Amino acid sequence: MLLECGLTLTDRSRREHMPIETITWTGEKVRLIDQTLLPAEERHLELGSVEEIWEAIKMLRVRGAPAIGVAAALGLCAGIRGSRATSWAEFEPELKRAAGYLASARPTAVNLSWALERMVRLAETVRDQPVAAIKERLLAEATAMIEEDHRICRAMGEHGAALLTDGQGVLTHCNTGGLATAGLGTALNVVFTAHRQGKRVHVFADETRPLLQGARLTAWECLREGVPCTLICDSMAAVVMRQGKVKSVLVGADRIAANGDTANKIGTYMLAVLAKEHGIGFYVVAPLSTIDRAIASGDEIPIEERGAEEIIRGFGRQTAPSGVQVFNPAFDVTPHRLIAGIVTERGVAGPPYTESLRAMFEESAMRPHRPVKRG
Ligand code: MRU
Repeated sequence: MLLECGLTLTDRSRREHMPIETITWTGEKVRLIDQTLLPAEERHLELGSVEEIWEAIKMLRVRGAPAIGVAAALGLCAGIRGSRATSWAEFEPELKRAAGYLASARPTAVNLSWALERMVRLAETVRDQPVAAIKERLLAEATAMIEEDHRICRAMGEHGAALLTDGQGVLTHCNTGGLATAGLGTALNVVFTAHRQGKRVHVFADETRPLLQGARLTAWECLREGVPCTLICDSMAAVVMRQGKVKSVLVGADRIAANGDTANKIGTYMLAVLAKEHGIGFYVVAPLSTIDRAIASGDEIPIEERGAEEIIRGFGRQTAPSGVQVFNPAFDVTPHRLIAGIVTERGVAGPPYTESLRAMFEESAMRPHRPVKRG
């Protein structure tokens, strides 16, 4: 059973500059804002089982690559809390089964399997300890990811803000703000950081069909933060560029291959092509955990396809005739040659990305991904 906690914050001034509590740990359960209800309603869910977390990730109640990684890590802790295992031999299969199941919720964002793999690896290093101690270590690791995410978002915000100039417009796609992370956001936080630094920046937010993350979530975050924002339909991006309203496009990423090819929300590739035509800088903003060095190019990135209902009955209303054939990929891959730079917590990587991204990893000593077996 989901425990639903109604929360209505009506005083906008009180909310400004208050970080969004996208994901927190209550002590027993994972607490997250149900993003499917925004902007109409701010309601938090408290979820205590892997099945509930899986459903929340699958249905995009929690979404955005870094956010689903952290939610899954905490969800794993919630799920194994009740385990009666008394030895590593009993505990290990339970842990791996739950991790594999959570990893199967969405295939494209590598942060999901990255976070789960990190949890499983950690458990393996403390396997000699009593199960209760292993559980405690896992919880400490998952909650530390929230704080770590804040630090990483802050660093990306600062590196990226240096690319923006006073008075410029920025085109965004999907939602890459605090809602998409456990922290402050990726691409949208670059704009927010520039705004806090005193630069006059204006967001042009693509509504982002079919699930409207731009309209429902990015516009909501911009209003909350007091950053000027104009909402446009996806089909208006070319005109906005042609009229000189934007000088940069900033997007997030769900998985970046070793050569810089970037999977992100469907429609991103189209924006990169348009940006090239108009001589506009197209930048990706993502933490190193979104970079999958195990794959050489974007051809190997699995692309999630979602149900026809999202297009035939957009938000519960008939928006196309039932029975029509629908193609609904949730992500596309932007070739690295269209990307001017990739902003990470380590700085801004430029082409050729195979070398610049490798150098960032070498500096950070982050281990390569070892995918969790999906259950
Ligand atoms: O399907 P979603 O809403 O999870 O897609 C999210 C995106 O495509 C974001 O741009 C991406 O996760 C990076 S934002 C931190």
